[in-house]
Amino acid sequence: MFSNKKIVLVGGSSGIGFAVAQQAISAGAEVVIASRSLEKLHAAAKQLGGRVRVEQVDASDEQSVIGFFQRVGSFDHLAITVKPQLPSGRFLENDLAAVTAAFDAKFWGQYRLAKHAVRHIRQDGSIVLTSGVASRRSYPGYSIVSAMNAATEALAKAIAIEVAPIRVNTVCPGFVDADRPIPGRIEYVRTLAPNLPLDRLGAAKEIAEAYLYLFGNAYSTGSVIVVDGGATC
Ligand SMILES: NC(=O)c1ccc[n+]([C@@H]2O[C@H](COP(=O)([O-])OP(=O)(O)OC[C@H]3O[C@@H](n4cnc5c(N)ncnc54)[C@H](OP(=O)(O)O)[C@@H]3O)[C@@H](O)[C@H]2O)c1
Repeated sequence: MFSNKKIVLVGGSSGIGFAVAQQAISAGAEVVIASRSLEKLHAAAKQLGGRVRVEQVDASDEQSVIGFFQRVGSFDHLAITVKPQLPSGRFLENDLAAVTAAFDAKFWGQYRLAKHAVRHIRQDGSIVLTSGVASRRSYPGYSIVSAMNAATEALAKAIAIEVAPIRVNTVCPGFVDADRPIPGRIEYVRTLAPNLPLDRLGAAKEIAEAYLYLFGNAYSTGSVIVVDGGATC
């Protein structure tokens, strides 16, 4: 389905982005995975095999983002799955420098990447941003996560009308199992989201399927696909 397509995945060295890379390669795409750590990227590329290229980029640094897209050249689809260090703590206790840095990496990181990607994306291509269920439900200690995810969804809808026919969509994941499962995580998630109908964490590959759908569906723009096991029911 994606043969002759070049797909760029910023955050593609682990988690959801890595699962998107696996599925894009299986669907015939040429894939570029990018993040800050070359060591992580090379390890991921070794696991991926196939048509994969690695590129270093820091979403927090505009010059790094500009240089990155110049090296990548023209391409078809971009997915951004950058995850910052998330400060844990309630609103009144949070350290402002830590929450500002997290917001900068995730929200402004996606803003910078989308802005500088547009001129390199082919006219029938697309951008997929990543939010998360805290955009639509409040959890104690997650105020900054709620704010950055809601801002991400609003940004995607706003730029979709400006950069058309390039399409811009968002995937909103629920609680996902990490590459190395974290002991006690499902118990913790049950305290946050007691009404979790499927009563399990999502798999990165289940979230990744939504990115592939959005790359391929030529009539989707400004959309948000929520893949959350019912966490927001
Ligand atoms: N996992 C969940 O339960 C969950 C739930 C809801 C939403 N989400 C969202 O889904 C997305 C992916 O999450 P994940 O759990 O799959 O993340 P992950 O496994 O931690 O991967 C994050 C990726 O982002 C890269 N990255 C981090 N900071 C970066 C920066 N400044 N510039 C460039 N790359 C950077 C990392 O590589 P380097 O360290 O090499 O830079 C890595 O490739 C995130 O937006 C997250 O907020 C996740």
